[in-house]
Amino acid sequence: MDDVTRGNRLAWETASRKHVREDAELRGQARAGGALFATEVEMLGPILATGPHVVHLQSGHGLDDLALTAAGARAVTGVDFSATATAAAQRRADDLGRACRYVHAALPGAPLAGGCADLVYTGKGALIWMPDLAAWAADVARLLRRGGHLFVHEAHPAVPLWTWDEDEPRIRPDRGYFAGSHVNDTFPAGGAVEWQHTLGEILNAVIGAGLELRRVEEYPEPFWRADGVDAAAWRGRLPNTFALLAWRPESAAH
Ligand SMILES: C[S@@+](CC[C@H](N)C(=O)[O-])C[C@H]1O[C@@H](n2cnc3c(N)ncnc32)[C@H](O)[C@@H]1O
Repeated sequence: MDDVTRGNRLAWETASRKHVREDAELRGQARAGGALFATEVEMLGPILATGPHVVHLQSGHGLDDLALTAAGARAVTGVDFSATATAAAQRRADDLGRACRYVHAALPGAPLAGGCADLVYTGKGALIWMPDLAAWAADVARLLRRGGHLFVHEAHPAVPLWTWDEDEPRIRPDRGYFAGSHVNDTFPAGGAVEWQHTLGEILNAVIGAGLELRRVEEYPEPFWRADGVDAAAWRGRLPNTFALLAWRPESAAH
């Protein structure tokens, strides 16, 4: 593991204690049913209807997994390098009787069998922690069975540029779309380094791993809003999230 990833892991191990402190609130959110956005349900509906085994890369607090099992997934295997996050997510899933299993491991390089996933699900603050998108995409392609899908619902790569000014959107003077990385100054903080991948780099990594794009969408709504902030950049004029659906073709030579 490189030094930056080691530092990021420390930052996440500390930040993930939030998922333990806020356990009651997270269970309430899970019971209320909704970690998946309507757009995710719409794109994933036909796949979830087949009862897939889902591998969730960078599974975090695991609320997505509870929602995926409620929406039809037969089982979810979450992988995350925060032991605090995987332990908390496992306790919640067990208590709620959901078929979720959590694996504590650094990615890429998930310690799971090749072809085990009908659906690889990831996002909501995941790709920014992957320095090498080609390695990430190769791991996804390895995990997918032929005919299996990759689904990503993620912060739009332009998001690091937006200020949180409430009167009107502005571009941060200290950020650039092509900068490559910046030090995170919100969550998980702790000096964590976020990698910036352009939309083209993300799509090309997926294509380069032998997957076929089926759909790409951009949305104005962010997937996360800091408490007490109502940024003008989130009110519909700018892209804040994107989603992509790709698949490993039946005939792919992997
Ligand atoms: C913002 S969370 C997003 C996860 C999830 N979708 C959610 O909403 O909770 C990012 C997660 O990525 C994990 N992570 C970051 N870098 C990682 C790596 N190299 N290997 C495995 N997990 C990693 C962190 O521990 C954290 O739980």
